[in-house]
Amino acid sequence: MTVQHIETIPSVPGNHNLQSYESAYRSFRWEEAEKHFTWHRTGKCNMAYEAIDRHAEGALANKVALIYEDDDRKESYTFEQLSKLSNRFGNMLKGLGIGQGERIFFFMPRTPEVYVGIMGTLKIGAIVGPLFEAFMESAVTDRLSDAEAVAIVTTSKLKHRIPRDRLPHLKHVIIVDEQTEWQPGEVDFHVAMAQSSEELDITWVDREHPLILHYTSGSTGKPKGVLHVHGAMVQHYLTGKWVLDLRDDDIYWCTADPGWVTGTSYGIFAPWLNGATNLVRGGRFSPERWYRTIQDHKVTVWYSAPTAFRMLMAAGDETVDAYDLSSLRHILSVGEPLNPEVIRWGMKVYGRRIHDTWWMTETGAHMIVNFPAMDIRPGSMGKPLPGIEAAIIDDRGNLLPPNRLGNLAIRTGWPSMMRAIWNNPSKYEEYFRLSGWYVSGDSAYMDEDGYFWFQGRVDDVINTSGERVGPFEVESKLVEHPAVAEAGVIGKPDPIRGEIIKAFIALREGYAETSELLEEIRVFVRNGLSAHAAPREIEVLGKLPKTRSGKIMRRVLKAQELGLPTGDLSTIDD
Ligand code: WTA
Repeated sequence: MTVQHIETIPSVPGNHNLQSYESAYRSFRWEEAEKHFTWHRTGKCNMAYEAIDRHAEGALANKVALIYEDDDRKESYTFEQLSKLSNRFGNMLKGLGIGQGERIFFFMPRTPEVYVGIMGTLKIGAIVGPLFEAFMESAVTDRLSDAEAVAIVTTSKLKHRIPRDRLPHLKHVIIVDEQTEWQPGEVDFHVAMAQSSEELDITWVDREHPLILHYTSGSTGKPKGVLHVHGAMVQHYLTGKWVLDLRDDDIYWCTADPGWVTGTSYGIFAPWLNGATNLVRGGRFSPERWYRTIQDHKVTVWYSAPTAFRMLMAAGDETVDAYDLSSLRHILSVGEPLNPEVIRWGMKVYGRRIHDTWWMTETGAHMIVNFPAMDIRPGSMGKPLPGIEAAIIDDRGNLLPPNRLGNLAIRTGWPSMMRAIWNNPSKYEEYFRLSGWYVSGDSAYMDEDGYFWFQGRVDDVINTSGERVGPFEVESKLVEHPAVAEAGVIGKPDPIRGEIIKAFIALREGYAETSELLEEIRVFVRNGLSAHAAPREIEVLGKLPKTRSGKIMRRVLKAQELGLPTGDLSTIDD
């Protein structure tokens, strides 16, 4: 492969928290970052203490920690207020008999109650399980039952997607809004909060104690529970400082929902560990609402995703011009490849560089990034964080030279690395099958200067609007529909969403292809799993390409869809 770098956007000189990437990369050791925390001597810690209580006890007590707004609510909370509210929540859980290590899920829109609840859960050493509010019944059931959750915090509207008769471990359903009729096992959040003390003896835990369980999709099997630990805070803190470049007077806005890892690692932990003011916007996306949020709150650091930037770009430059966005100092992106043209457009309309960052649910925090003090090569994800060894390796674990495509891998042992796949040690081990390496499942190459360039997934995982969707989960739902005999699901390139979900199905005998039937099947997946997992396109085939052992060959479907050669067909059925 020959690679030409025609384009570099130099960094703007400034007082960046990390001034010299090269020297930091050479000398940095994680033990140094730990010294920021007093617990590095005792080993006993708590994420919620470091993110909230430490500030509440000190000079930042009256600083605004959380600004919340949606179309109806506008609120703000200081570190001291969040400390007391999360103490109440922790006491509420204790009052219900919930203790260390138990799983508490959050299934609701990202209102302040989620942030209070997550901190309160961590304070008693219980494990947080975030769920995206768009999940429907089977998606919710799979996750709650795998984790054996004992409690869930939700709303009166969403609770109908939680089938309690199928979830024997689930004892408490905490409802955060008003409702007229209460079922057994339901807890009124506001009443219980008022009855709980705002004093709490925080539970000190080991740094390896479980913190949070994020479910994410692979190419086979059901979604897997990726487990992180309290000790991850070292990396959340450091990347908040170096990559988000957070300073005392920043207003920081991460647009991700806490149902996904970006919305927790960088929507909760990193900003608060750095004592920053964290803005949360609820409600739906619209360019006007988003720009008004930046303008009204004078947002300085903004972390979003390529799909959002592409939608903002599609809204036209006049939309940008209608708002005062001059407060913005630093812009970042994550979740999908960031197109060079989006970076160029960002330079034009925001007058700022958009800094790409690469990481995954499993890595817990940033791995490869563009630092503010570094030249950007548009299209590249940047360089590994100090303390992180990234490499391109072949399928046997040999290092590949620059500009050769291979597996993007990370040397094991960074602080925010996942510690388990819940209930599934063999899945966990698969990631570490090449001795000493975590194998990401992404393919990439590294150029001569150490910049990493994303090329695609090695497996069939779909990335639609920055959300990971496992084809297997969608296929399984599709074949539950009475008309569907078999199904194969792929990601089809899309200019705004990165990829959309396309399903190929074969119908059972007695069913004819009609647009009503295809729409019914689409709605069936949407109502069973979630809107983002429903196929935008469905194509009916006589039969699907399969291996002789009966496995559907997604790569053949994809190649045909893209008009590419189908490759080696020696294992195909006929
Ligand atoms: C993809 C989100 C290209 C990648 C934090 C990865 C990216 C998956 C980038 C993880 C990027 C994430 N450029 N692709 N900067 N960042 N990805 O677990 O395929 O939801 O493996 O974590 O998103 O998605 P996840």
